[in-house]
Amino acid sequence: MPFTKQTIDDIDVRDKRALVRVDLNVPVADDTGEIRDDSRIRAVLPTVRRLLDRGASVVLCAHFGRPKGQVVESLRLAPVRVRLNELLDIDVVDAGGPTGDRPAAVSAALEPGQVALLENVRFDPREERNDAGMARELASLADLYVNDAFGTAHRAHASTAGVADHLPAVAGLLMARELEMLGTVLGSPHRPVVAIIGGAKVSDKIAVLTHLAKNVDVILVGGGMSAAFLRAQGFAGGLAEVTRAEMGAARELLDSPKPLVMVPVDVMAAESFAADAEAGAVPAQNVPDNRQVLDIGPKTAELYATEISRAGTVIWNGPMGVHEWDQFAAGTHAVARAVAGNTAAVTVVGGGSTAEVVGLLGLRDRITHVSTGGGASLEFLEGKTLPGIAALRDR
Ligand code: 3PG
Repeated sequence: MPFTKQTIDDIDVRDKRALVRVDLNVPVADDTGEIRDDSRIRAVLPTVRRLLDRGASVVLCAHFGRPKGQVVESLRLAPVRVRLNELLDIDVVDAGGPTGDRPAAVSAALEPGQVALLENVRFDPREERNDAGMARELASLADLYVNDAFGTAHRAHASTAGVADHLPAVAGLLMARELEMLGTVLGSPHRPVVAIIGGAKVSDKIAVLTHLAKNVDVILVGGGMSAAFLRAQGFAGGLAEVTRAEMGAARELLDSPKPLVMVPVDVMAAESFAADAEAGAVPAQNVPDNRQVLDIGPKTAELYATEISRAGTVIWNGPMGVHEWDQFAAGTHAVARAVAGNTAAVTVVGGGSTAEVVGLLGLRDRITHVSTGGGASLEFLEGKTLPGIAALRDR
C-alpha cells in the first residue's frame, strides 16, 4: 500500500504560515499533572524542524483529553508547551484561543522560524462537530495546513478534516511514516506475517481480526478475548462473559484454512480481578468455572515467541494480559522481548498500552516502528478510511 498523499516536502513553504495539527494527547500523572511519556511530543519534532528550516512559521494545533467543548483548567496545554520549549530549544508562543482574536493576532505577527501553540482545540464545542465556521477560522490563521496527527486521524473534526477544505492540505513527516509503515505490513510485507492481537474483547477486535485474516499468515491471540477462543473450542474458559456472537466469530476464525490462528494452550487463571489475586498457570482446557483468565501462560508465551522469531513481518496490537499487574505481566513481556529480538523482521507495534510496554521495557529502539496511534492504528488495521488522511491532497 504505497503512501499517496502529498507531504510538506512536496510544497513550497518559504515565508508561509503553516497550521500544523499534531497529537499531543500525552499521558499525565493523576496527582501532579506531570507528563508521564513525551513520545507523542518528540514524534512531531521532525515536521516542525523541517518547516522552520525551510523558512516557514508554525501554528501548532492540538487537543488534550476530552473537555467536551468547555474550558477545563486541568486540560490546558501549558505543560505541553513547556516541554516543547525544552525539546525545540525555542520559545513557543502561547497563541491562546483556540479561536478568536488572540490566535489571529499572534499568527499575523509570526516571523519565519517562530512557533506558536493554540490552546486545547476541544475547548471549542464546534471542534468535534466539524463545524464549518470553526474550520474557516482555523484556516484563516495560516497559508497552508499540515496534518501530522496520526493518533487523531480517525476523527472527522474541524481541525483534522474540515480545515483541509480551505487551505492546501498535506501530511507531516510523522503521518507519512505511520502510513508507510502500517501500509507496508499490510500491503507488500516480508513473509511470513505474524499478527499478535490482544485486548479485552473479541467484539472490540473482531473487525481487526477479520481484516487482518486477509493479509497475514499467522494470528496469535491473547488478552481477555482468549476466553472466547477457549469457549469456541468447547472448553469452559473461566468466568469471563462471552457472547454468542463473540464465540461465533472466534469459531469462524479457527475454522478458516488461512491464516493459522493460534490460541493459548495455557493461561494464568485468577480467583478474582485483582493484582494480588490467588492465581496460577493452568492448561487451556482446564480453566475452572470460578477463575478468570488474566494472562497467557508460560507454554503459550514460548510457542508465540518461537512463531515470532520465524516471522518476516510482525504487527502487534494489544497486550496479552493485565500487564499493569506484575503477576500477569509475563506473557506481554515475553511477547515484547520476542518482537524486539527478531531484528531481521519488520516489526510494527500499535495501540497505546502496547507502545507503553515496549517503552517501559526499554525496547523501543529495537522495534522498526512504534505507532503513535491508539484508536487510529486499530481503525487503520480494520481497513477503514481515516478522515484526517482522506482530506489531504493526493500526489
Ligand atoms: C488518542 O489518544 O488515541 C488520540 O489522541 C485520540 O483521542 P480521542 O480518542 O479522545 O479522540
